[in-house]
Amino acid sequence: MSTGKRVLLIIAGGIAAYKALDIIRRGRERGLAFRVILTKGGAEFVTPLSVASLAGDKVYSELFSLTDEAEMGHIRLVREADLVLVAPATADIIGKMAHGLADDLATTALLANDRPVLIAPSMNAVMWAHPAVQANVATLRARGVHIVGPGAGDLACGEIGDGRLAEPLDIVAAALRLLAPGPLTGLKALVTSGPTYEAIDPVRFIGNRSSGKQGHAIAAALAAAGAETTLITGPTALPDPAGCHVRHIESAAEMLAQTLEQLPADILVAAAAVSDWRPASQAGQKMKKRENDAPTRLDLTTNPDILATVAAPGPKRPKLVIGFAAETEKVVEHATAKRRKKQCDWILANDVSPETGTFGGADNKVYFIDAAGAEEWPLLSKTELAQRLVARIVAEIKKATP
Ligand code: C5P
Repeated sequence: MSTGKRVLLIIAGGIAAYKALDIIRRGRERGLAFRVILTKGGAEFVTPLSVASLAGDKVYSELFSLTDEAEMGHIRLVREADLVLVAPATADIIGKMAHGLADDLATTALLANDRPVLIAPSMNAVMWAHPAVQANVATLRARGVHIVGPGAGDLACGEIGDGRLAEPLDIVAAALRLLAPGPLTGLKALVTSGPTYEAIDPVRFIGNRSSGKQGHAIAAALAAAGAETTLITGPTALPDPAGCHVRHIESAAEMLAQTLEQLPADILVAAAAVSDWRPASQAGQKMKKRENDAPTRLDLTTNPDILATVAAPGPKRPKLVIGFAAETEKVVEHATAKRRKKQCDWILANDVSPETGTFGGADNKVYFIDAAGAEEWPLLSKTELAQRLVARIVAEIKKATP
């Protein structure tokens, strides 16, 4: 299946250059065609032959090569692309882009380019945090350059921190979003999903039966509509949905921290079944049974409310904050009160009494509640419900920005 879209991929000289091979492979699987410029530094890490074999095309590297210029000058290279992707984008090439330097084929092509540009930075964490790099990134961002990553984690240099190239699949997803804009392209969405686990001791926890199916389906639908979507999920048995950035957490405190870290965002959908309580203290070692089977008490403390925290008025409040309300009685009445109390814009209220099978099931039956009142939605699969909700979000965003 071809999308008919062509990516000009610039591979700069970083240790993560080998991952560019996977970007090409994953991108071609998803219908993208690649033409590749390999910088001199890039060629220190991957060979032109391996790039050419995966791309199914010759690799370009020389600015003043007669053969290359005869076949494809730097101007034609960019004119024939729908998107220019720089991956990995090193501190060096980011600096050159920001300052308009053109001393090789890659930087000359970038300067002659009028197509959308996506960069995937990759470098040592201290380099990434350096004010010079951050200023260059800010310049590029202000110029409309799109940026995917970098992520946090183990770096090739042995240090840990921000600077890791985004996952190849995330880079491809970001490229596809830019190439096939949807109604939510340009907007950032956050979705919380799944249960939270609240540790009692190193082996035990308090959790709940949330499967994460509804939240994951919403994240996938938002990404499919073009939103840059981050899914923050507790432990579930589900695979990561396509096209989303996924952050795996366990506790409510971690979910809150991750959610706050992702702000500002345009849309928040809080679909997680966050544990209301956590043990007041966590035992460092596995707790022992008490003598003579004496009862054991567990002191609980209340967890922070993620939805209410993000929905509270403030400069970082998303334009649209959507919550869920799982109720077992007086569903609309309780959910309407909850919407006001938590200051969210919409609440999807569902009856989770065991006989409905909602928890863990494939279907969901909700009432859609906004300031105007409650609207009963039919029984839908969780995927259909996600699509209906996203259609509603699109309509709301269009209303706000005609
Ligand atoms: O208060 P209750 O748990 O019924 O509210 C449900 C809604 O609030 C859901 O959208 C859920 O994701 C969110 N929530 C939250 N943080 C909590 C508790 C609930 O974000 N600690």
